[in-house]
Amino acid sequence: MEPGIRWLITPDQIATRVRELGAAITADYAGKPLLVICVLKGSFIFAADLVRAIDLPLGVEFLGTQSYGDGQKSTGVVRITLDLARPISDCDVLIVEDIVDTGLTLTYLVDQLTRRGPKSVKVCALLHKPARSVEPVAIDYLGFTIDDVFVVGYGLDWAQRYRGLPGIGVVEQA
Ligand code: IMP
Repeated sequence: MEPGIRWLITPDQIATRVRELGAAITADYAGKPLLVICVLKGSFIFAADLVRAIDLPLGVEFLGTQSYGDGQKSTGVVRITLDLARPISDCDVLIVEDIVDTGLTLTYLVDQLTRRGPKSVKVCALLHKPARSVEPVAIDYLGFTIDDVFVVGYGLDWAQRYRGLPGIGVVEQA
C-alpha cells in the first residue's frame, strides 16, 4: 500500500464482484458472441479481469477517451483519442467503463456507438458516483456504488499515478 492511500474496495472484494458480473453477463447473453469495448485508459485492468470471468465467444476492442486533464475535475469535454479498429454493425456490444462520474463520457460514447448500428449496446461499469451525476445514464452491470470521493487504483489514476494499485483507494493527502 502506498503512503497516503486508504482502501475503499479491497482486491478481494473486487475479485468477488468481477466474478459475479461475469456470471451475470454470461447468463444474459446465453452463448451469443459479444464484443467487449474497453474504454481506455482507466478500464484496462477491469476489462482484463472481466473478460476472463465471462464464458462467451468474445471479441475485444479498445476505445480511447479523454474527459479530464491531470486534475480531479471534469473539463466537461469528451473526445475520442483512439477509435475502434473495426465496424460494430451486427454486434452485441458491451462498453466496459472504469467509473461513471458525471456520466458525460458514457452518454457521449453510447450515443456515438449506437450511431454505428450495432445489434445492441449495454454498459458495464466498475464504479458509479451518483452524487455527481449530470447526465443520467443506464448502467446494465454495475460493480459498486461509491460516495463522492476521488478514487485511484485498479486502472484509475490521479495525474497518471496509482493505476497499478491492486484495489480501489482514496487519496488522503492530496
Ligand atoms: P465522467 O464523464 O464525469 O462520468 O467521467 C468519466 C471518466 O472520468 C472516468 O472514465 C475516469 O477516467 C475519470 N474519473 C471520474 N472520476 C474519477 C475518480 O474518482 N478517479 C479517477 N478517475 C475518475
